Amino acid sequence: MNDIAAQILNRLLKAGDFLSGEDLCYEFGMTRSAVWKHIRLLRAEGYHVDAVTGRGYRLSCLTGRPVKAEVTPFLTAQRFGRNILYHDVTASTNLLAKSLANDGSPEGSVVVADSQTSGRGRMGRIWVSPSGVNLYFSLILRPGVPSIRVPQLTLLVAAAIHQALVSVASDLAPLIKWPNDILLNGKKVCGVLCEMQSEPDLTHFVVVGIGLNINQTLMPSELQDVATSLFLETGCLFARPELLASVLNHFEPLYDAWILQEDLGFILPYLEKYSLLQSKQVTIDQLKRTLSGTVKGIARGGELVIEGSDGQTHLISSGEAHLRKETL
Ligand code: BTN
Repeated sequence: MNDIAAQILNRLLKAGDFLSGEDLCYEFGMTRSAVWKHIRLLRAEGYHVDAVTGRGYRLSCLTGRPVKAEVTPFLTAQRFGRNILYHDVTASTNLLAKSLANDGSPEGSVVVADSQTSGRGRMGRIWVSPSGVNLYFSLILRPGVPSIRVPQLTLLVAAAIHQALVSVASDLAPLIKWPNDILLNGKKVCGVLCEMQSEPDLTHFVVVGIGLNINQTLMPSELQDVATSLFLETGCLFARPELLASVLNHFEPLYDAWILQEDLGFILPYLEKYSLLQSKQVTIDQLKRTLSGTVKGIARGGELVIEGSDGQTHLISSGEAHLRKETL
């Protein structure tokens, strides 16, 4: 698909309703027949674009809005997602969820936004959050466990997202990159940012923030080599409400099991089977050192197990892992 057709598709997706031919001509600086030519290109690629005289063009395969009324029909989880707070736009769903959690919002509450103006990633990064296409949401948890266990939640959520993706599209082959990324064909499609408020022996709450790139048709040029969306990898559009429900449906039973089991032992075979880093040569950037070695697995406490070039086994609990070039 050419860039203009992708941009028109993006515009129709965001509108979610009819857009007049005149508006499209104006926005894209082209004639009516040029707009029509691009609509025909989209149809040739399988998109259902209605054309109605006097109203304009509309994408008829609607991908939904992640609002309570559209998510609830897909929910099987008993607690997660039963309280959904939707915003068209907010600075960051994590920020909002933390403030709601401070004010006493119950476990399982979800804050979701159609777009974020200051989406936050790990290590102070920005999470690009355009409207109409992706999922940005934060789940409030009150696990009542010592804070030392909380980092394990990131991997647990990653497993749930992995299961959700495979359940909506069985031919997808996502991989989990320790500790918090999901990749498709080597590019990041989803990130998890867990933030907590705690004392050493008691976790008051955890906010699990998830950004999942779904129907984004173009990545900003600086991210094109490293980030992607489900649409860019498959050519298909996905329903955001169904995906949101699916992540919550998969996560709730894993979370309940984790609370009882006290560590990640029960899910380790799954995490290792779908780990991008398993048996690979990696370099880990930590605050004060860089470590190189071979990934042997994931420990029950969620640490990455590395056999260093010094022959020693290291348990890595934080940091960013990079695949060594020769093993990519
Ligand atoms: C990362 O990979 O660095 C984590 C990205 C997490 C992004 C999500 S989008 C919803 C929630 N709100 C935020 O501001 N961040 C998380």
